[in-house]
Amino acid sequence: MQGRNIILGVSGSIAAYKVVQVARDLTQHGARVDVLMTEGATRFVTPLTFQTLTRRSVITDLWQDWTEDAQGHISLGEEADIMLVAPASAQTLARLALGLADDMVSLTALATYAPLVLAPAMNYHMWEHPATREHVRTLQDRGATVLTPGRGRLASGAVGEGRLAAPAEIVGAVRWRLGRSGKLAGKRVVVTAGGTREALDPVRYLTNGSSGRMGYALAQAAIDAGADVTLVSANVELSPPWGATLVPVTAATEMFAATEQACKHADVLVMAAAVSDYRPENPSDSKLTKTGGAMEFRLVENPDIVASISRPGLLKVGFAAETENLIENAHAKLERKGLALIVANDAEATIGAPNAALTLLYGGDRVEELGMLPKEEAAERVISAVARLLGA
Ligand SMILES: Cc1cc2nc3c(=O)[nH]c(=O)nc-3n(C[C@H](O)[C@H](O)[C@H](O)COP(=O)(O)O)c2cc1C
Repeated sequence: MQGRNIILGVSGSIAAYKVVQVARDLTQHGARVDVLMTEGATRFVTPLTFQTLTRRSVITDLWQDWTEDAQGHISLGEEADIMLVAPASAQTLARLALGLADDMVSLTALATYAPLVLAPAMNYHMWEHPATREHVRTLQDRGATVLTPGRGRLASGAVGEGRLAAPAEIVGAVRWRLGRSGKLAGKRVVVTAGGTREALDPVRYLTNGSSGRMGYALAQAAIDAGADVTLVSANVELSPPWGATLVPVTAATEMFAATEQACKHADVLVMAAAVSDYRPENPSDSKLTKTGGAMEFRLVENPDIVASISRPGLLKVGFAAETENLIENAHAKLERKGLALIVANDAEATIGAPNAALTLLYGGDRVEELGMLPKEEAAERVISAVARLLGA
């Protein structure tokens, strides 16, 4: 989002106070956020609140100065990378659908080619009304991204669908939309994440300390680059990036089936999950109890997912988390599993940690050291390497 120009149109809904957080988050991500408010919006939150957080003038009045100094406000629409309307009231949705232009929000929406993201919030009768449904459909048909409001207790006390999407979701949708024209636009990327669980009995399992953070960061980086992402996720407690298709799995065999299915039409497989090499051969159907002595389990090997999935045109990226002979072992895996790229890292230092020191090994002995980076940044570097390998 660094350096991107975002117009945030705020309209008259009680949920306007939640959008203060959105303005703050977008600004902190490095975007230039220009806030426009309907007269109704100013009844709920003051322009000063948004101005303080974005450090930019907030425009509320269509009839204010149109001098060169005041930057003839139509130019905001010309410079915008994206326009977000949040909360989008029923009234504002109607204006946008009909192409009305009698306030700064609707006027600017009409005067920009920037993609539109809408986060509606209203009473559930208003949301379900055929007029609102039709306006939403019209806007979607024109290419707007509309976040489905949540279900829950509304400001009126009634329970129904109409709650503004969570600020993190709104920021995620903006991020997704901004990425659409990126280097991986039109590419389908499958990312696996998390650590598999291999059942010993219905309540106990063998697993590892993977947090899923690396895989989720890779999925987000691929979305930022415009890819359509399927995230095969094993036992991760993080929120998936907005726009990813999430396939939750538990054990390695489930991950294999889900990944194989997702790869049928994919261009790239990034295998970041920590998959258990072995599983108990005969897990107990009922909870095991103490026997007063040692207990033995026979383990059988799990399928090697990344090695087993192979399709012409599928570019495979593996991860090698090792505790010794990192580069030699990673190199051997690269060749044995038919990978275009393997990301080597020190297992003990990386699993579950916020940072990672990654080494990228390509075919033909090419090696690239990334050094210690936050996983989010490391993920961007890996996805850039993938884009280069695809010739994007
Ligand atoms: C207390 C209060 C809360 C309101 N909350 C909403 C709301 O959540 N969603 C909505 O569409 N309208 C809501 N309205 C009605 C709008 O503010 C009203 O339709 C207004 O004309 C919207 O115009 P605007 O889109 O130009 O801001 C509320 C009105 C009041 C008085």
